[in-house]
Amino acid sequence: MTRYDVIGRTYASTRRADPRIAAQITAALGDARRVVNVGAGTGSYEPADRTVVGGDPSLTMLRQRAPSSVTPAVQLAAEALPFPDGAFDAALATLTLHHWSDIERGLQEMTRVAPRQVIFFFEPASASELWLVDEYFPEILALGSERAAPDSARIGAALEVQRMEVVPVPADCQDGFAGCYWNRPEAYLDPTVQEGMSSFAQLDAEIRRRGTEHLRRDLETGAWDARHGELRTMTEIDIGYRLLVAGHLS
Ligand SMILES: C[S@@+](CC[C@H](N)C(=O)[O-])C[C@H]1O[C@@H](n2cnc3c(N)ncnc32)[C@H](O)[C@@H]1O
Repeated sequence: MTRYDVIGRTYASTRRADPRIAAQITAALGDARRVVNVGAGTGSYEPADRTVVGGDPSLTMLRQRAPSSVTPAVQLAAEALPFPDGAFDAALATLTLHHWSDIERGLQEMTRVAPRQVIFFFEPASASELWLVDEYFPEILALGSERAAPDSARIGAALEVQRMEVVPVPADCQDGFAGCYWNRPEAYLDPTVQEGMSSFAQLDAEIRRRGTEHLRRDLETGAWDARHGELRTMTEIDIGYRLLVAGHLS
């Protein structure tokens, strides 16, 4: 039983590819025709116009992949990919590295099976700056998965980096990851939305209840809007999500 077999049961109800972020990831894959998606989960961000294999340790996650998906799914761990050297043109990993048990080994495996690596991740230092974490749920920073989250320097040290791009989070972002609702605070009161975020799903129930009530109160009294109301007028924001492109195309 993996972590996501426990916390990932309702993942697909709030987590889906955001089309703007998907376009950025697809562009980063370049002309790669054969793609392996490592830590693929339910299959978000897998481009439909190429041959993609999705792999994940969690059967709970793999079973939530769209029934119409033609993408084959494999149960695997990043640290030991069951593919020969160079089996793919590109290896993709989205919002998954902070859950791996051995990040360098996983990145090495991605490099072994594909000449290009594309990684969508968040800079851990930015997490503490987000109002959600800073003011309501600072306990998130102590979670194992958050403390293990690699920054760009660590990821870059294991790969031949070509470029790193900012991934702006749109005001109407459709993928319910932790920073998705930076301008729509009411969304974080919804237990289903919280369940779709590994940080919330791992939090102690009492800490989660307390932070949620604090936010609910601040929204009712206008305290949140007094501090952050200008966020509601912005069209997108940089809150530390990044896309790293490494290696080369064969
Ligand atoms: C936040 S989900 C991201 C899923 C998907 N890539 C997405 O963008 O929606 C993190 C995923 O990493 C997977 N994962 C955890 N440990 C892993 C490992 N060692 N190797 C590969 N994937 C792993 C989890 O099972 C989970 O499906």
